[in-house]
Amino acid sequence: MARVLSGIQPTGPLHFGRYFGAVRNWVAMQAEHECFFCVVDYHAMTVPFEAEVLRRQSLDLWIDLLASGLDPDRATVFLQSDVPEHTELCWLLTAITPYAWLRKMTQFKDKAQKAESEGQSYTAGLLVYPVLQAADILIYKATAVPVGEDQDQHLELTRDLARAFNQRFRAIFPEPDAIHTDTPKILSPADPERKMSASLGPRHYIGCFEEPASIRRKIAGAVTDSGEPAADGTLGPGVRGLLTLLRAAGRDAEAQAFERDYANGPRRYAPLKEAVAEALVALAEPMRERRRALAADRKALKRLAREQGARAREVARRTLAEAREAVGLAPTP
Ligand code: TYM
Repeated sequence: MARVLSGIQPTGPLHFGRYFGAVRNWVAMQAEHECFFCVVDYHAMTVPFEAEVLRRQSLDLWIDLLASGLDPDRATVFLQSDVPEHTELCWLLTAITPYAWLRKMTQFKDKAQKAESEGQSYTAGLLVYPVLQAADILIYKATAVPVGEDQDQHLELTRDLARAFNQRFRAIFPEPDAIHTDTPKILSPADPERKMSASLGPRHYIGCFEEPASIRRKIAGAVTDSGEPAADGTLGPGVRGLLTLLRAAGRDAEAQAFERDYANGPRRYAPLKEAVAEALVALAEPMRERRRALAADRKALKRLAREQGARAREVARRTLAEAREAVGLAPTP
């Protein structure tokens, strides 16, 4: 039985990019593996944030995860900051992380560049972010990490850090593998050159709990191309993005039929958009219902989240004691 860990940032609601790229695998894996899934609130502090918003969005996303099918009886679903051991292991790892490894991380470079171009400063937290992610994984000695394609570089760094620690001190950490779904990259409907993401704004994602009218509106407004068949038969990124959504929603045969049509003649995209919207509405309906039923008792959910954190903490404490000992500190403070 593999030990599984993954995380998700409380930077907005659960959307179909995160669901089709990662969370769907979390739900599948909880049946057969020992799973830990966390809302990574410490990570959300690496960009400008507000205390109240962080608090609210963290619990909201934790509820989203339950509504999407995670079961606290089968997986441990918690808030990262309920297990402060993550940050201490992060420090132990930071002490052996070459600065050059962090500076070349794509996500760091992109976010730093964006901040600079907007005349904003950025923090050391943004640089150390991937080390904290490595600590999240290694503190549970996880061997499998279900994530979208955009996390591959961070997983590579996690493996490098595990190896570095094991060689330098003592072999404590397994080197984890990234696990992908069939659709590890879902695109933004409004800008198919970029991935679906809540931080780009509401036009750039379809929420898993969104109202049908809103889903239909966003898909109807999705970017496609002129409809003129390209000489080499290729489809534009927007059309490919819609076909991927259709496949991810379980409508493979329909997607294939559209592809066949588009290869042979004039391309009409309205029927494709209707099919995608219908498929997503059908998936979102029961999720929205489940969420509504769950969210009624927010106090009880808060309590449950804390209990789940305590469960995760027992495992994290044991690993941290081993790691402290290995680097020359007392196993427990
Ligand atoms: P985050 O919060 O951006 O996304 C959560 C998960 O969803 C995947 N994902 C996507 N997959 C396909 N298409 C998309 N458009 C899309 N958008 C998001 C992400 O790949 C991710 O798996 N650094 C991580 C959070 C993290 C973490 C961890 C992950 C912190 N610690 C430890 C794994 C293990 C992040 O920002 O994910």
